[in-house]
Amino acid sequence: MCGIFGLITNQNVNIGKVALDGISRLEYRGYDSCGIVSQSNGKLEIKKDSGKIREIQEKLHLEKLTGKIALAHTRWATHGPPNKINSHPHTDCTGDIAVIHNGIIENFMELKKDLVSKGHEFKSETDTEIIPHLIEDNIKAGMNFRDAVIQTLKRCRGAYGIATCYAKNPEYIIIGRKESPIIVGIEEGKTSYCASDIPALLPYTKNCYIMGDDELAILKPGEVEFYDISNSVKLIEKQPQLIKWDVDAAEKGGYEHFMLKEIFEEPKAMKKTLKIAPKNLKKFATLLNSAENVYITAAGTSFYASLAGKFIISRFLGKYIQAIECSEFQTQLNNSLEDDAVIIAVSQSGETVDTIEAIRWAKENHSNIKILSITNIVGSSITRYSDHTLITQAGPEIGVAATKTYCTQVLTLALIGLEIAKMRKQIPDQDIDKYYKALKETPNVIEEFLNKNVENIKRIVDNLEKNANYFFLARGISIATAKEGGLKLKEVACRFIEGYSAAHAKHGPISLVREGFPIIFIAPPDETYERLIGNVMEFKARGGQIISLVVSDDETIAELSDITIKIPQPATKYYNLFSPLTFIPALQLLAYYAAIKNGLDPDKPLNLAKTVTVH
Ligand code: AGP
Repeated sequence: MCGIFGLITNQNVNIGKVALDGISRLEYRGYDSCGIVSQSNGKLEIKKDSGKIREIQEKLHLEKLTGKIALAHTRWATHGPPNKINSHPHTDCTGDIAVIHNGIIENFMELKKDLVSKGHEFKSETDTEIIPHLIEDNIKAGMNFRDAVIQTLKRCRGAYGIATCYAKNPEYIIIGRKESPIIVGIEEGKTSYCASDIPALLPYTKNCYIMGDDELAILKPGEVEFYDISNSVKLIEKQPQLIKWDVDAAEKGGYEHFMLKEIFEEPKAMKKTLKIAPKNLKKFATLLNSAENVYITAAGTSFYASLAGKFIISRFLGKYIQAIECSEFQTQLNNSLEDDAVIIAVSQSGETVDTIEAIRWAKENHSNIKILSITNIVGSSITRYSDHTLITQAGPEIGVAATKTYCTQVLTLALIGLEIAKMRKQIPDQDIDKYYKALKETPNVIEEFLNKNVENIKRIVDNLEKNANYFFLARGISIATAKEGGLKLKEVACRFIEGYSAAHAKHGPISLVREGFPIIFIAPPDETYERLIGNVMEFKARGGQIISLVVSDDETIAELSDITIKIPQPATKYYNLFSPLTFIPALQLLAYYAAIKNGLDPDKPLNLAKTVTVH
């Protein structure tokens, strides 16, 4: 959460504009306030305020900042409401040291008390503000800027990605990391950049240095030095990683919103993900096949992708996989996690703190545990705690609501499932071939659906939006689809939609149903279909308006429905198993157009940020 961007250059660039572009590319990380500090002629100039970047830009003209150093920040508030004073950058008493920060300094109260007793004056309610004051103290005690920052970071507990500059030191800026991501990009001999995420660096370089925990970097124009500061201070060598994303992939490319663009990119992202190297899938399959106990953990959309994936893998593995939300992982398994379990962790960003904490706890307490991760981001934190990682090929996802990454996660889990099926030889080869064929067809099914159904979905949204609440109901594997569809509508359209088990709904939720209450049934023709008909009848009998998501040649549920959305796929068991992939775009589009109809920005849902790096 929070986006950081910074640069130091010896070139004649419009530094305010570059810094502004940098944080604009990271706005999905937080968008309640923003600010930029620039440094020139021994002075710092800061412009900051609350609001979206565009509003602040119009008011303060951030692009007019000049100099050879700039640090920029877009905030998701934790400590202190989103107002001008709490927005970053924060400074020390002299106004010469500026800091931008992503993360939480857990011991800030105690540090602040100490600083206040020494006469430091604080302006904001943030935890971040203690950092420039601590640096100030260390400089006063005779340390140079670098050592002052190192000693400051050593006193901070919690998580941070920071960047700092000092008006009296025009030679370098400093960045540091513990748990909150920060990367470095270099244009050799000219400019050095830092950012909390890859899209901000794509216009300048595709070679990124990914900082590890307890690392610090000194950035000079076009050069960088890295230090390990975990114990003593050691200069370290780091190799850059090549990022294969195109700069265009992080642009809207003619679409009104990233969310819509990213839904339409699903077929392409899935086709790329289908090319994951079989040898890497095999590593996952081998470990899962030999494990006694398998868990899968994640948050939000990644958790719902995990629910679909565990269903598919369990089917071929012949063992039940337990899915546990990452924030509950440690509490629920405290006394029962087996020493030799295998854990699959799924995270688009690879930085979700609860997911990282779950696997780190498991690893630290159980020496033989194996961690298998699935993420979209090369070099992200999750990869460091994993024995093996598969990288989904969704490309950058900028919309806060996860869409194409959900599809690539489910697809990757399905590929693992089929690899296990090949390994175990429990089902005939011809059957496995048919499953593969169906899985490889899913991007085409989605493409066809998207190309033909936009107007249809808009019409349904027009009809639905008269009603405040509704249900998404399903059975079996489609419960994952119902939950993910419900989450999309909640987050982008601000409507309370519950994704629920159709069977379980009659144990309570059915009491909400009145004449015209809309219920969307997700109804692929799988083994749950006949029982789902019974559930449709129960809700219909109580006056519910039935909207169904069915395959093209469905007759029964379609006939019982007031509105039908048809997914162009064959009604075979091979396709049905992958219906979480082919059925979800309809619900994503529904959420998108519901947000538009409600006058909301689907790319920046209220109170959210794309990557959740706080507990
Ligand atoms: C998805 O639409 C959400 N914004 C959110 O639930 C997200 O999936 C969750 O925070 C997990 O993120 P991760 O995949 O990066 O770990």
